[in-house]
Amino acid sequence: MFSSQLTNLQIYKLPNSILAPIAGHTDLPMRLSARRHGCRYAFTEMVDAGSLVFGNYKTNCLLIARDPSEEFLGIQLVGSEPEILKKAARIVNEHNFDVLDFNLGCPAPKVAKKGEGATFVVQRPDEAVAAFSVLAENSKIPVTAKMRILSEADPEPTVRFALRLQEAGARALTIHGRIMKNFYSGPVFFKMIRAVREALSIPVIANGGALTQPLYQQLLDETGCDCGMVARGACGNPWIFREIGAGRIDPPTLEEFAEEMRTHFYAMLDFYGPENGVRISRKTLLEYLRGRGFPGELRASVSFLNSAEEFEELLKAVRCGPSPRYWQMLEQNPGMERRLKR
Ligand SMILES: Cc1cc2nc3c(=O)[nH]c(=O)nc-3n(C[C@H](O)[C@H](O)[C@H](O)COP(=O)(O)O)c2cc1C
Repeated sequence: MFSSQLTNLQIYKLPNSILAPIAGHTDLPMRLSARRHGCRYAFTEMVDAGSLVFGNYKTNCLLIARDPSEEFLGIQLVGSEPEILKKAARIVNEHNFDVLDFNLGCPAPKVAKKGEGATFVVQRPDEAVAAFSVLAENSKIPVTAKMRILSEADPEPTVRFALRLQEAGARALTIHGRIMKNFYSGPVFFKMIRAVREALSIPVIANGGALTQPLYQQLLDETGCDCGMVARGACGNPWIFREIGAGRIDPPTLEEFAEEMRTHFYAMLDFYGPENGVRISRKTLLEYLRGRGFPGELRASVSFLNSAEEFEELLKAVRCGPSPRYWQMLEQNPGMERRLKR
């Protein structure tokens, strides 16, 4: 048995921001893109513990790949079966990760169906804590958890559960300030996160709604946390990390934007192979183009992208810039989420 509770080092140098685990997004190419713009702490996509133990070797290799340049990388597991979690923790021990996070917040139907993620906490809280303990007892690296608030009005259930995870050896907790049934929309309940932060002695990381640098700052200010986790605000927008670092809005120029898209695209081709890489990149390219005033036809053409040659054509169109209306909207609306610098 290993004790991940013995060392009392802070996992994250504070204050800092963390790139959240995002299924289908935070693969190695996306993390490298974020890191080019100042992201220091990041997570893999969620990895199913059963798939890690019994699943396809090649798929697992892609999911748990770490680039030598990555200074800090956490792995996130989802699961519920104690025996499987034990085996999964031991596999993680053989790899190079800095922290093991347990997913207790995912509301997605395929996870809920198995009674895992957020459903685990809501339906079987005692077993969820026991499952966390299995990871903590078998992991050589610090174990953390990511969960949602359990009520929008009463902090007590969230605080109570968070305290149980702390007692079970959690070295940090990320709290997403939305309840399970709200998935990713609606307001973030800062007060609920603040109550957890005030009740726990381990670091509490605030999550939810940090789609821009000012919104990230608001998340920290309102919750009192030193550290926040950024998810959708980083998809197609790695510059959010330099903005958070600088404490001000500092969007990319059109040229920087196009160059980053290009570097990210070719990193995906290298990582997944040319054919799969192009297919998987479509979603990523759409994230870059979303909300930045590029013509609808240009964005639609991404769905049909089939080769690097076609990508180069797309990039030429991107370099022509967004519509004049977008520049006007930027001037009129300083809070706009996806920005380019003139
Ligand atoms: C497409 C998608 C996939 C996600 N995958 C994961 C995941 O694998 N693990 C996890 O803990 N949270 C996952 N999340 C939740 C995010 O990490 C984050 O908690 C949530 O999006 C709220 O943060 P935001 O408002 O900054 O996006 C996912 C969210 C989205 C939209």
